[in-house]
Amino acid sequence: MRATIIAGNWKLNCTLDEAERLARGVMDAALDAPHRQVVLFPPFTALERVGKVARLGPANLFVGGQDLYWAENGAYTGEVSAAQLVDCGCRHVLVGHSERRHLFGETDEATGKKVTAAVEAGLVAVVCVGETLAERQAGQTKAVVERQLTAALGSCKPERRAQIVIAYEPVWAIGTGETATKEQAQEVHAAIRAWMAGHCDADTANRVPILYGGSVNATNAAELLATRDVDGVLVGGASLDAATFARIITAGRLG
Ligand code: 13P
Repeated sequence: MRATIIAGNWKLNCTLDEAERLARGVMDAALDAPHRQVVLFPPFTALERVGKVARLGPANLFVGGQDLYWAENGAYTGEVSAAQLVDCGCRHVLVGHSERRHLFGETDEATGKKVTAAVEAGLVAVVCVGETLAERQAGQTKAVVERQLTAALGSCKPERRAQIVIAYEPVWAIGTGETATKEQAQEVHAAIRAWMAGHCDADTANRVPILYGGSVNATNAAELLATRDVDGVLVGGASLDAATFARIITAGRLG
């Protein structure tokens, strides 16, 4: 049985007080869904504050960083290390989010270094992959996702594979209100699982949680979560309202 993960990526939003209020506002929903993992990704500035809320809250509520740098320390202005995230109470970290790739020029090679640094520090790396609209229209979806997986996971040691979560986030669905259909999501998720079976091992392929992200909301979450190879959702905009995100946390059949 794979864990169901409901994750909220707050991106560049929230003051400290807003972040704390938002985290407190989803605690009841997390309690109502004890078999699901709820992971909040606040901005770096709010990690410690939200981390404290999570520590005192339900055992299935976790906090993660939106990015990290692979060096342990040094002259890297503006960057944050895996150990610093752990120090703030993080259990998870996003790697290779499409906004990092497309707005900030993050390369496939960088995602690989970040994944390695994250898992070696004991974090769960939520590796984001996904194609642009032009790539989908050119029939390149599978090739793009496989290239991103190869780069991100190529140097992950076998004993660290249990610390990997994949998030399939088609770029054309992020922040557009256009969600992938359950058939589109299933097709790519199955391809990701098949890639994992071929390039890692069957056990990892079976166990790895694969989340869907891109315009998930309180209305479409249940259907996506009921899709065979969709093990959770990574939510942007709809995670910024506590009541809406609470409905996503408890969407569909809780088990
Ligand atoms: P939206 O849910 O706002 O489309 O964002 C998805 C996302 O990028 C989550 O990481």
